[in-house]
Amino acid sequence: MLRVAVLVSGGGTNLQALIDAIADGTVRNAGIVKVISNKSAVKALDRAEKAGIPREVIKISDFESPRDFEKALIESIDQSEADLIVLAGFLLVLPPALVKKYENRIINIHPSLIPSFCGKGFYGLKVHEEALKRGVKITGATVHFVDEGCDSGPIILQRAVNIIEGDTPETLQKRVMEEAEWKILPEAVNLIASGRIKVKDGKVELS
Ligand code: GRF
Repeated sequence: MLRVAVLVSGGGTNLQALIDAIADGTVRNAGIVKVISNKSAVKALDRAEKAGIPREVIKISDFESPRDFEKALIESIDQSEADLIVLAGFLLVLPPALVKKYENRIINIHPSLIPSFCGKGFYGLKVHEEALKRGVKITGATVHFVDEGCDSGPIILQRAVNIIEGDTPETLQKRVMEEAEWKILPEAVNLIASGRIKVKDGKVELS
């Protein structure tokens, strides 16, 4: 079984999609062994509790320095013996030491078709605001491996979502989640759990 640790900061709807997909057998051979949040009292923690998954809150403000926080985060992940780390709406930049240690074992879900509307400052509603401002007709979501850069790692899966006349950042965000994020994140975990993903020359190869 692929041991999955999920890092969250908020609502946890992507976490929920993964919990549900494992429960209904859409994702096979994987289990969530821990949910770590950098914020207390977020809905994602309730979702983990309800599913009987061990949870931990690791907040920067509880530590003397960002370094100590990073150390605690890495220790917690190491302790979980996770094979895969899933960033499901985790709003902090990961410590480079963590990225290095878990090379090609950390994935992130981003609410646009990378390389559009990604990188520094593009998170949450901002992504959808910018897509609408630019007038693109198609947007979507991307699951990618995490490397040292921002949204720059090898792309695993993408799904397109049409922009509809009258869309607001909020309606678009909702549709991108429903039609793309909640589907491709579990799909990506399933592909990894079944050993069908290889990274070669910075690109993902599916078998
Ligand atoms: C999602 O839009 C995800 O793409 C982004 O942050 C949001 C998290 O939502 N990285 P949730 O916490 O999974 O509901």
